[in-house]
Amino acid sequence: MALDKAKIVQLMNAGLEMEYASQIQYLTQAAITTGPYAEGLIARFKEIAGDEMEHAEILRIRIAALGGTPTTKVGDIQIHKDSLQAVKINLKYERDTVEFYRKILNLIPHDEVILYEAIEHVLQDSQEHVEELERLVGK
Ligand SMILES: [Fe+2]
Ligand SMILES: [Fe+2]
Repeated sequence: MALDKAKIVQLMNAGLEMEYASQIQYLTQAAITTGPYAEGLIARFKEIAGDEMEHAEILRIRIAALGGTPTTKVGDIQIHKDSLQAVKINLKYERDTVEFYRKILNLIPHDEVILYEAIEHVLQDSQEHVEELERLVGK
């Protein structure tokens, strides 16, 4: 399997848009979260937002390394005043993200080690985010 650079760049730019949106979403939710569990939720949202910032950095660098131009677009952002609803929105988002990066990973030959491991890292973090949010919603 040869690496389809144009297709991978296009997909990674779609991922970069999602990472930007996701970071803003978590940080905004952290700012507006109130209630008895606010402290824990705020800490978790901020921690995850930091990971999303790192993912965006990884994608920007890999896109540029493939000769592409990293997008500056920001994907759709969903905010909810209710903390539990916010967590559920993020959980759906993270599950979709896992599927998305799995799809990209399957298009990368294993000997493209830097690119493969970069996407694998982002996928692993996203799976961790799913687990962490699942705990918060109690399933
Ligand atoms: Fe991410
Ligand atoms: Fe995430």
